[in-house]
Amino acid sequence: MMPDWEKLKKEYEERIGQAADLPQIEKLRIDILGKKGSIAGLMQQMKDILPDQRKDFGMAANMLKNEMQESLSKRMSEIKEKVQKEEIARQRIDITMPARRAPYGTMHPLTIVQYEIEDIFYGMGYSVVEGPEVELDEFNFERANIPHDHPARDMQDTFYVDVNRLLRTQTTAIQTRCLKDMHDKLPIKVVCPGRVYRRDDDDAIHSHEFTQIEGLVVGEGITLADLKGTLELMARSMFGPDRQIRLRQSYFPFTEPSQEVDVSCHICGGKGCPVCKGTGWIEILGSGMVHPNVLAMAGIDPSRYTGFAFGVGVERVALLKYGIDDIRDLYTNDLRFLQEFKRFE
Ligand code: DAH
Repeated sequence: MMPDWEKLKKEYEERIGQAADLPQIEKLRIDILGKKGSIAGLMQQMKDILPDQRKDFGMAANMLKNEMQESLSKRMSEIKEKVQKEEIARQRIDITMPARRAPYGTMHPLTIVQYEIEDIFYGMGYSVVEGPEVELDEFNFERANIPHDHPARDMQDTFYVDVNRLLRTQTTAIQTRCLKDMHDKLPIKVVCPGRVYRRDDDDAIHSHEFTQIEGLVVGEGITLADLKGTLELMARSMFGPDRQIRLRQSYFPFTEPSQEVDVSCHICGGKGCPVCKGTGWIEILGSGMVHPNVLAMAGIDPSRYTGFAFGVGVERVALLKYGIDDIRDLYTNDLRFLQEFKRFE
């Protein structure tokens, strides 16, 4: 006897419609369409059907199978969509809720000063170049015109790693690297910030580890007047537009002539106060015209090219600018101290 296909279809669809989750759908799929499921069971009955009805039976059973496949996958999509909607509703974020404030840091005063100085020089077309802190004797001393037996080595008590390597004592080491690397790409205009190290007993004004920024310009026709103008501009950008600078004759092995540079006191304006020790002037850096030996060692012809260089102590500028009286405050990272610099960022 032919089954009532319509009735079967209705019955299955009702069950599918009632399935509430994916495991239930899977169970129904096995019950209805599985190898041992209801439709497979119906197929088995085909042999009892009169031969001239078998074709119709087969077609109807197949159609039912296809329809049920479709109904099951439709219901499965509905359930998936519903689950997803519920999940989204559950995860909804209330964007009107006040946020928990994340405490954020401040720029370190040394970084502020470093960036400020770099900015001044970016504005004049310089590039910023860095170098290694563990340096070769060659770049820290030899190429800076300080050979092994030179008394100037005593001025900078050095941490040696081995015979040839040391913790650089001066950013002049980056200067000599630049000269070597860029000797055929003149003119050179660079500033070179970096940490330097010297054997020193730490106290309120000394640290065995500190920061310098080296400046270097090499090209044709560079003179001491260019150096003076550049340093005056830097002093004014850092300490105020009314500052004056003065150059005092000095000695560095890598420059000739060499000058120490003083800036008129930004606290008293030059009248004399405790910060400038009553002199009206504060020493801020060393500088000079690059020594011909230094140029020659880098492969630059000193009869054609000249250059100037300078080295600023970043800690010294920070202490002066912000009125800090103990250099160790710059290294201990006390948050109360560091937060003070938020306003200078
Ligand atoms: N390297 C010197 C020091 O550490 C600072 C310095 C002086 C750098 C004169 C220069 C310079 O480039 O021309 O004491």
